[in-house]
Amino acid sequence: MAALPEGSPAPLDGNLTNLFDLVNKPFSLYVHVPYCSKRCGYCDFNTYTPSELDREDQIESWLNSAVKEIELARRVLKEELTIDTIFFGGGTPSLLDSNTVDNFIQSVKSNFKLKPGLEITIEANPDSITEEKSQRWLNSGINRVSIGMQSSTKEVLKKLDRTHNPDNVSHSVDILKKSGFDNFSLDLIYGTPGESLSDWENSLKDAIALNPPHISAYSLVIEPGTKMGAQLNRGEISQVNDDEVADKYQLADEMLNKNNYSWYEISNWAKRDKECKHNLNYWLGNNWWGIGPGAHSHVNGVRWWNHKLPKVWRELLEKQNSPALAREVLSEDQIKSEQIMLLSRLRTGLGNHELDENRIENLIANQLATLDANKIVLTLKGRLLADEVFRQLSA
Ligand SMILES: C[S@@+](CC[C@H](N)C(=O)[O-])C[C@H]1O[C@@H](n2cnc3c(N)ncnc32)[C@H](O)[C@@H]1O
Ligand code: SF4
Repeated sequence: MAALPEGSPAPLDGNLTNLFDLVNKPFSLYVHVPYCSKRCGYCDFNTYTPSELDREDQIESWLNSAVKEIELARRVLKEELTIDTIFFGGGTPSLLDSNTVDNFIQSVKSNFKLKPGLEITIEANPDSITEEKSQRWLNSGINRVSIGMQSSTKEVLKKLDRTHNPDNVSHSVDILKKSGFDNFSLDLIYGTPGESLSDWENSLKDAIALNPPHISAYSLVIEPGTKMGAQLNRGEISQVNDDEVADKYQLADEMLNKNNYSWYEISNWAKRDKECKHNLNYWLGNNWWGIGPGAHSHVNGVRWWNHKLPKVWRELLEKQNSPALAREVLSEDQIKSEQIMLLSRLRTGLGNHELDENRIENLIANQLATLDANKIVLTLKGRLLADEVFRQLSA
């Protein structure tokens, strides 16, 4: 699993001394649900299968601690803030039973104000969406579902160790539409070893045919410490080359543009006004509290992250303590350079006053970015070479 940064010790009461002006800024809640029925071969997110957890840390115990962390957030933030977006991420939040999701949202409502019509997203695996859940999610206020489709090729799903088959995706989209969901997203992965360009084209075609308002497409990262990482080390699979990854990104951008999806972040495309407001809050450097094991938070330049193990997270909250493992206070320079990195990922771009003229000229001369209405915006070439652009920007 990915390691956490080092940081400095976080106080046990979770106290923050930098609460200036919070009520006037967007505030989001990220809610981490760290359970999966089986671990996918490529995934190094903080998630656990039932056999990896003691009885008292199984999914059924999550709500009790999650509500305690909401109450802690209310105490620490002092004000009854208005929440702009909520995002249940994982792991597999769709494994939670509907009462748990509803009780958690009720607890948020008892401790905070909710912005009218706020976006509430839940991430769902295609084989754990049911009619009952879909209806109950809507009744609880969830209005956006992000479905982990990944691919429509059976062999690719098998290579990724996914538990679903391609038919589960259209079936779950049917269920959501019938219950009345009009906002959902499909997550795709490209660049799995063995995936051909036409496999990828079929995944895009099948995703577009389901008419989702939003599509994310991520290039597969083979993380060390995962099953696929071990297969790579043993030479059983090989890393897909950069040209193939670039061809697949370009194909995605072309097909999505033709079907009225515009990119608004390097890996995200949406129909008009269907961008994910929650993720935009991260990229715009706004404030959020992350509830759950290993969740990260950011409030006015202070960033902290929770203990990853559900047991440690639960035990700290049982004692009314903060489950934070460590935190860091960002300096003005750090805030500025992070802002540059985050804003340059977005189609809305980076203000031209954020960079010195030489850098801007360099990016434009190399056709990596354009300057439009005082905003520096990545070109397609810039998005394809985003890692190189970020290296230049941070140098
Ligand atoms: C961590 S998952 C959580 C939601 C849900 N369990 C699912 O799998 O869709 C969120 C997204 O991250 C993607 N993801 C996780 N690890 C990845 C990796 N190593 N490379 C690319 N995408 C990855 C997943 O495929 C998924 O679409
Ligand atoms: S289902 Fe999602 S969170 Fe769980 S292991 Fe797979 S990619 Fe990771």
